[in-house]
Amino acid sequence: MLFKWLLFSLCIMPAMFSNTRRKCPTECQCSMDDLDRYQAICTKGGLNSLLSPNELDADVKVIIIRGPRNSITIGPALRQFMKLEILRITDSNLPAIGAESFWGLKYLRILDLSKNNITNITENNFRGQDNLLELDLSKNKVLRMASSTFRHLTDLRRLNLADNSIVELVQRNFFMLSRLKYLDLSGNPLQDLQPDVFRDVPELKVLKCRNCQLKKINPQMYNLLPLLSELDLGRNEFKFLDKDEFRDVKRLTKVLLDGNQLSVVVDQLFRMQKSLNHLDLSYNRLAKVPNDSFLQLTNLTFLDLSYNKLVRLEPQSIRSLSNLLTLNISGNVLMDLREMRETFELIPQLTHLAIADMGTMPIGLLHPFKQLRYLNISGNSLNNTALEVIDPCRELEFLDLSRNQLHGISEDTALRIQGIRNVRLDNNPLICDECHMGKLINVVRQVSSK
Ligand SMILES: *[C@@H]1O[C@H](CO)[C@@H](O)[C@H](O)[C@H]1NC(C)=O
Ligand SMILES: *[C@@H]1O[C@H](CO)[C@@H](O)[C@H](O)[C@H]1NC(C)=O
Ligand SMILES: *[C@@H]1O[C@H](CO)[C@@H](O)[C@H](O)[C@H]1NC(C)=O
Ligand SMILES: *[C@@H]1O[C@H](CO)[C@@H](O)[C@H](O)[C@H]1NC(C)=O
Ligand SMILES: *[C@@H]1O[C@H](CO)[C@@H](O)[C@H](O)[C@H]1NC(C)=O
Ligand SMILES: *[C@@H]1O[C@H](CO)[C@@H](O)[C@H](O)[C@H]1NC(C)=O
Ligand SMILES: *[C@@H]1O[C@H](CO)[C@@H](O)[C@H](O)[C@H]1NC(C)=O
Repeated sequence: MLFKWLLFSLCIMPAMFSNTRRKCPTECQCSMDDLDRYQAICTKGGLNSLLSPNELDADVKVIIIRGPRNSITIGPALRQFMKLEILRITDSNLPAIGAESFWGLKYLRILDLSKNNITNITENNFRGQDNLLELDLSKNKVLRMASSTFRHLTDLRRLNLADNSIVELVQRNFFMLSRLKYLDLSGNPLQDLQPDVFRDVPELKVLKCRNCQLKKINPQMYNLLPLLSELDLGRNEFKFLDKDEFRDVKRLTKVLLDGNQLSVVVDQLFRMQKSLNHLDLSYNRLAKVPNDSFLQLTNLTFLDLSYNKLVRLEPQSIRSLSNLLTLNISGNVLMDLREMRETFELIPQLTHLAIADMGTMPIGLLHPFKQLRYLNISGNSLNNTALEVIDPCRELEFLDLSRNQLHGISEDTALRIQGIRNVRLDNNPLICDECHMGKLINVVRQVSSK
């Protein structure tokens, strides 16, 4: 008891007292964060002005202001908080950033102004911020930026410009960002990416331009980004990728090309991608996968081919995917699953498989998959008899049976699913009475009595 009190007085009381001595605006909550930094969090909404030093101690290190219904402008007042390391003002209707608003805030590492109403950004906005690591301007209304807008941010690692209205990247748009690792341009109607722009970001590892209305990319861009490891070009308008498209980006580990209009993955397209782990080609128009398309992808663990127009998947085409763990071929309604047996036998190591929205599943189809832990067979008109298809998979932990034709849980069905930790059964014409569900009710009783 005495020991506890001692501990309390030594550790907790000083913190309590120092908290009470500190100033904190009524709209905010102030505390010490995990790294023992004094922080002010103002998320009640309805703020009309920024915090002034009369209300808040000048040595605050973290300020987080979030709407809704805020209407704030930022200006030189911020400079009084000289120790600021993290500043987030989001969802607050900020119309602009203001010239030199952050001048003198030399410890500022993270600046997040996402979800505001910022239309213009200029180099004046960031003067003095040569220690900033992260800048988030996503979900604003930026239309275009001038050349060298970010020139003062010479140490910047992450830049998020997603979901603005940027129509073009100008020459030297990212001038001086030579340490940038992460760039998100998604959700801007860019239509094109000028390769020259990427000359200034030679260390870029992650590039996202999802939903940018892109039709093609000048391969010169890849040539300037030798360290690129993650590329997200999902939801664009690519119809065809030339076999040399990715020739110069040899370190890619993750490529997202979902939601484009690709009708073929040409042989050798990924011949340089020996490090590729994750490939998403879902929601395209692929009718076939040529025999050598994935030949060099020996490190691939995740392959998503769902919602295409595949008629079949040749054993030849997946023969080198000896590390594949997850395969999704859902929604290829033209595919005849009776012809998939031979293909599946080449990838018995799979742990995750999605074959949803495909129609009838022949008994024996899943025979090779002894190690499967996750199986999605929703939307396949399965009835209680057809559920026999899962019998070979003894290691299942997750099973999605939603949107099928299971009428009640028969004894067989109950036995089949009782060992599986997580089973989804929604949207089946289940009849919930003792007669149809009796076995399941008994199982539940057994489990709960344990
Ligand atoms: C955002 O800015 C535009 C023009 O800059 C203005 O017309 C609009 O009212 C602003 N929206 C809000 C919610 O303040
Ligand atoms: C944004 O910049 C343009 C061109 O420099 C200028 O015409 C416009 O008035 C600026 N808008 C705001 C809200 O400052
Ligand atoms: C393949 O993956 C393994 C394990 O993640 C890794 O050690 C190896 O370097 C990768 N091979 C290539 C060519 O990237
Ligand atoms: C692809 O491989 C299959 C065997 O899986 C073979 O029948 C077919 O002729 C091959 N196609 C081409 C174009 O080589
Ligand atoms: C395909 O299945 C995998 C594994 O369940 C999942 O991670 C992925 O999101 C699915 N793809 C689509 C488009 O739903
Ligand atoms: C199973 O697949 C369907 C269709 O692709 C999808 O809607 C559902 O979310 C998936 N289930 C899970 C648990 O991911
Ligand atoms: C269950 O589904 C299988 C395969 O679709 C079908 O052959 C069989 O007639 C169905 N059984 C019942 C009772 O509807």
